[in-house]
Amino acid sequence: MGRSNVARVGILDGKRILVTGVLTEESLAFGVARLAIEEGAEIVLSGHGRALRITKRVARKLPVTPEVLELDVAVPEQLRAAADKLAARWDRLDGLLHAIGFAPPEALGRGMFGAGWEEVGTSLNVSAYSLKALAEHFGPLLEAAGRGAGASVVGRDFDATVAWPVYDWMGVAKAALESLARYLARDLGPKGIRVNLVAAGPVRTMAAKSIPGFGTFEDTWKERAPLGWDVHDSGPVAKACVALFSDWFPATTGEIVHVDGGAHALGA
Ligand SMILES: NC(=O)c1ccc[n+]([C@@H]2O[C@H](COP(=O)([O-])OP(=O)(O)OC[C@H]3O[C@@H](n4cnc5c(N)ncnc54)[C@H](O)[C@@H]3O)[C@@H](O)[C@H]2O)c1
Repeated sequence: MGRSNVARVGILDGKRILVTGVLTEESLAFGVARLAIEEGAEIVLSGHGRALRITKRVARKLPVTPEVLELDVAVPEQLRAAADKLAARWDRLDGLLHAIGFAPPEALGRGMFGAGWEEVGTSLNVSAYSLKALAEHFGPLLEAAGRGAGASVVGRDFDATVAWPVYDWMGVAKAALESLARYLARDLGPKGIRVNLVAAGPVRTMAAKSIPGFGTFEDTWKERAPLGWDVHDSGPVAKACVALFSDWFPATTGEIVHVDGGAHALGA
């Protein structure tokens, strides 16, 4: 029998996934959305504020054009409205990608004394607390999937075990995100919901370009990653996220998967 007779089954066949964080085609979330569709998932995107228009335009570049929900994670009414809209469409949510990060300019690249609580609070709210806000508002839909094959929440991390140049309060927000993911894994595990993070090496996205001195990270990865690292290729990150959404990590939660060419494993 020729191989062509065998229908290919994607590893996300039949899964329903909400993908936040698509802004441009370079967005890490765009790569995840494309691969998830190719692997058989049905997806819905979310976008926020003035950028919503751009997300809607970029959505049309995906193999299947998904619905785009308006969702600013710092606006509770929008969280509620988006959850209601999704519940009207789907009776369960198998996967949720948190690919959201924001810090005001004062909080990035000016040292730890460049920002006050207002800017720091915004950074922590949008970049870390939002994981809890999403898990809470989409909780009933995730729980419905959790009672079946299990649900998977995946967030995007940048290794927060050390202090980096220029990353400043965004680094603190990522440390909070790492800790929060473990606590959410504790609370949501009994409901069949896994919570994991993918800690990526630097990729040239819109968010990355807004970090002054982003080139420092690129140089570090060039020197340190034993497998090498391409700052223009978000493919490896997308594959890891899709794998975590699949049924192939059924007993993994509270984990940080490093997709960084191995840079984290080396001291110098
Ligand atoms: N690019 C990198 O090198 C890198 C490395 C590790 C981790 N990350 C993380 O990956 C995630 C995605 O970032 P990216 O690099 O793809 O950049 P990006 O700019 O393409 O994506 C950031 C997203 O955050 C969204 N966002 C910002 N404020 C929001 C709000 N209030 N409500 C809802 N959405 C909001 C933006 O709309 C955008 O879609 C972030 O958490 C980022 O910290 C990026």
